[in-house]
Amino acid sequence: MKIPLIRPVITAETKARVLEVLESGFLTEGEVTRQFEQAVRDYVGCRFAIAVTSCTAGLELALRALGIGPGDEVIVPDYTYPATADVVAIVGATLVIVDICRQTMLIDYEALEQAITPRTKAILPVSLFGNPLDYDRLQGLKERYGVYVVEDAACALGAEYKGRKVGTQADMTVFSFHPRKFITTGEGGVIATNNPEWAEWLNSYKHFGMEVSASRRQAYFKRIGSNYKLSNLLAAVGLSQMARIEELLAKRLALADYYRHLLAQQPLVNLPQTTVHGKHSQQSFGIFVPRRDEVMDYLRQQGIEAQIGTYALHLFPPFAPGENCQLVGDLKNSRYAFDHCLVLPLFYDMTTADQELVVETLKQALL
Ligand SMILES: Cc1ncc(COP(=O)(O)O)c(C=O)c1O
Repeated sequence: MKIPLIRPVITAETKARVLEVLESGFLTEGEVTRQFEQAVRDYVGCRFAIAVTSCTAGLELALRALGIGPGDEVIVPDYTYPATADVVAIVGATLVIVDICRQTMLIDYEALEQAITPRTKAILPVSLFGNPLDYDRLQGLKERYGVYVVEDAACALGAEYKGRKVGTQADMTVFSFHPRKFITTGEGGVIATNNPEWAEWLNSYKHFGMEVSASRRQAYFKRIGSNYKLSNLLAAVGLSQMARIEELLAKRLALADYYRHLLAQQPLVNLPQTTVHGKHSQQSFGIFVPRRDEVMDYLRQQGIEAQIGTYALHLFPPFAPGENCQLVGDLKNSRYAFDHCLVLPLFYDMTTADQELVVETLKQALL
């Protein structure tokens, strides 16, 4: 592709940090992972940051930390990557899938509230593409119904609501560091929380149930656990980028502004809305266009790696309605986004000429 969707920022410093780990001989999770966690914690402003192998793993562990399982209901939006819903099924809870708001592509708070029942243990909204959630509304639901909020913030590192970073407002927030994210470890995730008990449980469970803070001569296992550790090698990749996160984010925001400027006069292109009082991190720059698949094919033929937004879960077999999966309402906004959302390339060293080419090609495709 002439213009890729995203390109990770791998510098000489990244390579040097990875080489240092390789030469240290200490490849599994260790000191470098601790530094990576600290970098995320300092940036986000949360009390605890727990590195895991992926956002999906982190979401699963967050639900397990809350004791969610069979008999509990967890509400998720229909328009998301399947991982958001998979984890609910994996822990044995019942999935309740609701529609999104067409303008923001985030969970529809009214549909969400109507779907709450006495069995609802948690809601799992998604700050999709880096658009932050309305935490005032979520806080209201927490207070009214006593539900937990676990946020799928796979794409939302750097986003803010009312001046507070994503990662400090839900009970647990899980970030992804997959290579499509602007800060990547190759594969990886971090769970952010302010709750010491959950943090202790998560740190122990991801490490074979070990008592992590023990000053014992040998390991002490205090519970059944598993292995979700993030290797020093991967943490080193992310650490080099975390050191530059403000600059990397500022560049994304500037690129997104320029796209908005270029697209402003295009009657066939609709731009989604950012949450009121929110600051979008522009992890993905999505737009709505008619004949989306044709337009996307045309862009790709011209060497521009456009992509669909994400998926309408109800259209896929694992999320067919059944005993452990409820679909609420007609989910028409999710279907609309699934059919019309197109994500345009956006990466750190993208030039204004690249962006102009993308938009010119888009205009041709829309003729
Ligand atoms: C909304 C959402 N949730 C979860 C995930 C899964 O993240 P990971 O690949 O880190 O498991 C993704 C992946 O892109 C995502 O977009």
